[in-house]
Amino acid sequence: MDLDGQTAIVTGAGRGIGRAIALELASMGAGVVVAEFNQETSERTAGEVRALGRPALALRTDVTRRADLETMAKRTMDELGRIDILVNNAGIYRAARPLDVTEEIWDNVMDINAKAVFFASQAVLPHMLAAKRGNIISLASMAGKVGGPNSVPYNTSKAAVISITKSLALAYAADGIRVNCVCPGFVQTDMWALLEREVGGGLMGVEPAEFTRQRLAQIPLGRMETPEDVANVVGFLASSKSSYMTGQAINVTGGLIMH
Ligand SMILES: NC(=O)c1ccc[n+]([C@@H]2O[C@H](COP(=O)([O-])OP(=O)(O)OC[C@H]3O[C@@H](n4cnc5c(N)ncnc54)[C@H](O)[C@@H]3O)[C@@H](O)[C@H]2O)c1
Repeated sequence: MDLDGQTAIVTGAGRGIGRAIALELASMGAGVVVAEFNQETSERTAGEVRALGRPALALRTDVTRRADLETMAKRTMDELGRIDILVNNAGIYRAARPLDVTEEIWDNVMDINAKAVFFASQAVLPHMLAAKRGNIISLASMAGKVGGPNSVPYNTSKAAVISITKSLALAYAADGIRVNCVCPGFVQTDMWALLEREVGGGLMGVEPAEFTRQRLAQIPLGRMETPEDVANVVGFLASSKSSYMTGQAINVTGGLIMH
């Protein structure tokens, strides 16, 4: 298998897209470190990885804490011996009209979605540089390429992920390290349920189910996205099949956006 013997760290892998990515990478042969804020869901995903026959480590990690990120890299090296892949997946969404965005909302979203992507990468890069190989894949979003009237901080944070991806790709291409990101569209997870309630129900006065029906009607491929749709593309980026790709922001949106 393509990732046999490799080790992947996936942040926020307790549920949703991160969990699907952890299971996809494990099914491709990788051992997985579940670096997740929630201890209970972290243990659950790690158990599912072990059930696929791969080593797993559940590591309670708050990606906004530099010390946690350093521990994440160190414990992965100590216990699994190598870091081949980092997937920066942990993220949050906060809905607010531009005039209602507080500094607290701005900092919270930027800290988790953007700043942590950079510093998690910084924590693993020395190990990847020593090995002269590595693969960093981050969760940006379609939101990083288009505007969002009710989510300025979120859209800004995802544009930052795309920018971090391009800069790190250039910085380390000659060292055998590839850096890419994926840009999903409307993925049915707990985050989507929150968005349905806060944007649909809260800001637009539309029933959550109706909000999703309206979004679904915009998707050319005619269905909502699943966590596995995203995980499959992350698996491709983690594999040698994408060995000539770096610095890319790949849309996985059912055709919603094409740039
Ligand atoms: N759901 C969508 O429609 C969608 C679309 C595009 C991009 N994304 C991105 O994909 C990623 C995953 O989204 P999801 O829908 O699975 O979200 P989710 O809310 O279902 O899961 C996010 C996970 O991240 C963890 N997390 C949150 N803060 C953390 C922190 N400080 N440290 C460590 N872990 C933390 C949570 O505990 C949770 O397990 C996010 O970066 C999100 O922005 C989601």
